[in-house]
Amino acid sequence: MSSPFLSDALVRPRRRVAAVLTCAALATSVALGGLVAAAPAHAADAVTSSGIVLGVGADESQRIVTWYTSADTAQSVQLAPTSQLVNGEFPASATLFSATGAANIATSGGFNRHATVSGLKENTAYSYRVGSADGGWSKAYAFKTQTFDGDYDFLFFGDPQIGSSGDAVKDGAGWADTLNVATAANPNAELLVSGGDQVETANTESQWDQFLAPDQLRQVPWAATIGNHDVGGKAYDQHFSTPNTDRSAAYYKGGTAGTGTESGGDYWYIYKDTLFIDLNSNSYVSNNANGSGGDAAHIAYVTDVIQKHQAEAKYTVLVYHHSIYSAADHAKDADNKIRRVDFPTTFSKLGVDLVLQGHDHVYTRSYEIKNGIKANPAEQPNQNEVFPGPGGVIYVTANSASGSKYYDITTPDNSGTSGAGNGPDALNPKNYWYNSVQNQEHVRNYTKVSVQKDQLVVQTMRSGTCDAPNAAVERGNVKWCGPDNGASAAQGVGSIVDSVTIHKAHGNGQDIQVTVPDAAPGEFGWTIDGRNGLVDLGTASTDVNSDFFAAKGAINPIAVNDSRRALSPWSISASVGDFRDGTKTFSGKYLGWTPKVVQAGAGAVAGAPIKSGYDGGDGLSVARNLAAAAQGHERGTAKLGADLDLKIPGSTGKGSYRATLTITALSS
Ligand SMILES: [Fe+2]
Repeated sequence: MSSPFLSDALVRPRRRVAAVLTCAALATSVALGGLVAAAPAHAADAVTSSGIVLGVGADESQRIVTWYTSADTAQSVQLAPTSQLVNGEFPASATLFSATGAANIATSGGFNRHATVSGLKENTAYSYRVGSADGGWSKAYAFKTQTFDGDYDFLFFGDPQIGSSGDAVKDGAGWADTLNVATAANPNAELLVSGGDQVETANTESQWDQFLAPDQLRQVPWAATIGNHDVGGKAYDQHFSTPNTDRSAAYYKGGTAGTGTESGGDYWYIYKDTLFIDLNSNSYVSNNANGSGGDAAHIAYVTDVIQKHQAEAKYTVLVYHHSIYSAADHAKDADNKIRRVDFPTTFSKLGVDLVLQGHDHVYTRSYEIKNGIKANPAEQPNQNEVFPGPGGVIYVTANSASGSKYYDITTPDNSGTSGAGNGPDALNPKNYWYNSVQNQEHVRNYTKVSVQKDQLVVQTMRSGTCDAPNAAVERGNVKWCGPDNGASAAQGVGSIVDSVTIHKAHGNGQDIQVTVPDAAPGEFGWTIDGRNGLVDLGTASTDVNSDFFAAKGAINPIAVNDSRRALSPWSISASVGDFRDGTKTFSGKYLGWTPKVVQAGAGAVAGAPIKSGYDGGDGLSVARNLAAAAQGHERGTAKLGADLDLKIPGSTGKGSYRATLTITALSS
């Protein structure tokens, strides 16, 4: 049984800044384009750049900048803190990050370049431009970093699919308006995450020009996702460069990486406390030339990344284009039904928190899905607080962010209410069994995800009304607009389509190791009393006369029940692992506790207090007795608690740390 602890924000300690560290223990289930004219140095050497994109990097201290250029020359990203620019001029100390790239395919023309910008500092405004001293620099753009720890928001956008209405300019207008609305309402959002289908026709650069026109794509990192409309050419790969990208054949449609005519690859990154894994879902179950099948390859990829990196983050979010729990034209697609069998059990076992999808141009939010079935039969439609236990996963499908195309909600059939089935929800038969919320009003949407200490808040907002720009409606591609199939008045911009708070599940039953011996009649057992929430030690503090940080809190109470006739002895003990925040760590020995019996019963006697190891000793890094009862004790139930006392060196780096408390029960 295990129970995570969390610590927060540690600033350089001593005496100057109020230092902080939040610690939390939690008990698990158990116990405890813009086309830019360059400014050439020499007109004859002028090089033009276009389509600059600020992309997400491998972590919050990186960005990857990608662009098109008219010349096959050595180019760089030039970067400096905005505070160091004088009258718009970059200082001599500005950093150059060399770019690499290649010639574009013929239909694109020109060349592509990308460079990884690294070593960014937190809470800093930066300016950058691309090009070279010889060929000239692009216009300058700006972005800001925020604190590298703690809560943050990101925005998710479905299928802009510029060109799909039949009018790329109208589609571009809707896309630009959604970005304006979304970033104006959320000026501190730190990522723009794609649900795929940036454009309608993979290699049509006039569509890419519309897609890339908004300057937000040069100001807030774009986390690209490849859709079925992007995959059929190289333009997607030319426009975006993603971190940690595996370009093995298995992650290309049909396993065709070698042919070089399509874009693809799976990638991952960690942004603050979130591990994002982004899949090329165009690699399907059965069309993979390497024989393993695309789904099997994706499952192997997700498993490998999570096993290696999940411990560095607090949340795991998957992103891919082809929604498996949608509600419109694609809900019954063959690949969708197969994936609804292939994917969910793995995602449940691996502790995925949230899956973000596109493709069906309709908004849906699933119930808690565990191993391919509705996890909690009592979960109500539209329930806006969910507590997925270990293995519970929420799947969201985004509607169109541009207004270029909408698909209408379709009707469930009699194919069942688990796995591949598309049967009705018993609680709301108009909906598919897997969906808590389905919404189609033919208006533009975007989704905001607030990543918080112990919960994800997922809110989907209307970014448009029935008025222009809304290309599918303007062009008559869809015949109605507004709630209730157009019978009700359109809701305003910024109004909420759906809001759900996903409370973090801590631990997964696999970590629970409770030894319950042969028993005489009656039972001995223990559980966490109440919800297994994060045990938050708050913000660690220090004062001018001390050289350490301190934080206090209490474990979630543990209920012990012993109704055996044998009146055999029992004990509950616990130890804590190292506290971690990414690659930063400090020993669990710095945690001490004072056990207590909150409610007497079952002969419980509290264990001895254990001091933090800061002043010596092992603290809770070795197993310590929480409570025990001797042979012949009374039957009944006890509630056990413990006050926690964390004391760590002032040299500990700033961070949001979490550790796992492992709880063991013994009885004979
Ligand atoms: Fe699409």
